[in-house]
Amino acid sequence: MGKYIECLYARNIGKYKEAKVKFNEKFNFLVGANGCGKTTLIKYMAIILNPGRANVFRYGDNATVWADYNDDGKSIRVGLGEGWVREGSDYRKASHNMWVAPQMDDNISATYAVSDLEEKGINFAPLILGAYRRIEYQEIEGMKKEALPIQKRNYYREQSISSVEGGYLPNVKQWMINRYFEIEKEWAYKYRENWDWIIDNLSAVSPFGKDFSFKEIKKDLEPIFMLKGKECYLEELSAGFQAVLSLIFAIVEWIESVNDEENLSIQRAAGTVFIDELDVHLHPEWQLIIRGMLDKIFPKLQFIITTHSPHLIASAYAGEIIKIPSGENVIDIAPSNKCYSGWSTDEILEDVMEVKNLENKKYNIVLKKAMEHIMNKDIKGIQRSIEELDLIVHPNNTIVNEIKIKLAELLLED
Ligand SMILES: Nc1ncnc2c1ncn2[C@@H]1O[C@H](COP(=O)(O)OP(=O)(O)OP(=O)(O)O)[C@@H](O)[C@H]1O
Ligand SMILES: [Mg+2]
Repeated sequence: MGKYIECLYARNIGKYKEAKVKFNEKFNFLVGANGCGKTTLIKYMAIILNPGRANVFRYGDNATVWADYNDDGKSIRVGLGEGWVREGSDYRKASHNMWVAPQMDDNISATYAVSDLEEKGINFAPLILGAYRRIEYQEIEGMKKEALPIQKRNYYREQSISSVEGGYLPNVKQWMINRYFEIEKEWAYKYRENWDWIIDNLSAVSPFGKDFSFKEIKKDLEPIFMLKGKECYLEELSAGFQAVLSLIFAIVEWIESVNDEENLSIQRAAGTVFIDELDVHLHPEWQLIIRGMLDKIFPKLQFIITTHSPHLIASAYAGEIIKIPSGENVIDIAPSNKCYSGWSTDEILEDVMEVKNLENKKYNIVLKKAMEHIMNKDIKGIQRSIEELDLIVHPNNTIVNEIKIKLAELLLED
């Protein structure tokens, strides 16, 4: 049982003539070269949720887009069938023409346009977080009344495209203040459970472990944290902390606002979170731990994440990487069973991210020359290469050590 997106499909929208991507129930890392279409896939989800923003794409004939959503074992299709968009539109002029549910399939039990969902009682309002994460200083005047779940679900659907484009940022501070002053009240026990869960897990979100914690909010309504024994205001935290906190609080805020009361526990909440470029602002150490951290804090959520980071890719478990080929306008892809935890950063960059320029790195040039000298049994040449390599490699570099052994063998032969 679970609630997750099984598959995204689009035809004749933007870059793709046809795109079909299957997802795992838990973690999915969309990876590939620049411009291969990672953000495009998130935008497909966003226009399913808000076709009013159709103008972010250009469309071909019979454009259609949908997501297959597994709602506790039942697959339903949510999206937009042929005829939904005004065709022949110019750039930035496309518009939502009418509500058309997408086509039916054998394995699907029902198809809906997003406008049908509330009436059918289906809570499908994924969270989309664009590649912009920062906490801007905001002066908070007090607690703010929160909207009803149905209003919030519609709000998140409406915000989806602006969120990909960076126009929507979560209001972390307002959430903290509302909760901090509410949780003592009897009726707020569900919120108290979530607050405690997050505050207790703060040490897990930081490479500093127990050296990072929440302290208090005083009368000035400014949350104070403790970092390595010193007080630190929210906006004073480094970009990495702000990125991680803004992400976590954004997810909590979403869980608590789109779910009805019985489903708002963080530990049990289901649904999908899309995050574009999860690695932005994160120190490599953070990039290595963030997958585990999200898993620990949000054990039931599905994550669909794009990334450029070899560290994040290395942290993915087997079966979580979805590699998007570049230069193709028809794709039919699913998670690969590969795992990159034993790959070096350069190997991941070259193979997964298709970075071409690594060969030009000085190390590779000198290494290539050294190999030529070994082939030619040119002892002087090998010695020169070793001197050069010693200046630019890690002292334990195994390849250079091998070259040194080779040199010793050649000297012995001599
Ligand atoms: N109407 C269109 N027809 C063909 N190609 C298009 C169209 N619209 C966009 N594209 C191409 O789609 C790609 C957009 O890619 P997208 O933003 O999804 O890439 P990305 O994988 O997120 O890249 P990055 O890693 O740089 O964020 C670009 O290469 C762009 O040229
Ligand atoms: Mg992108």
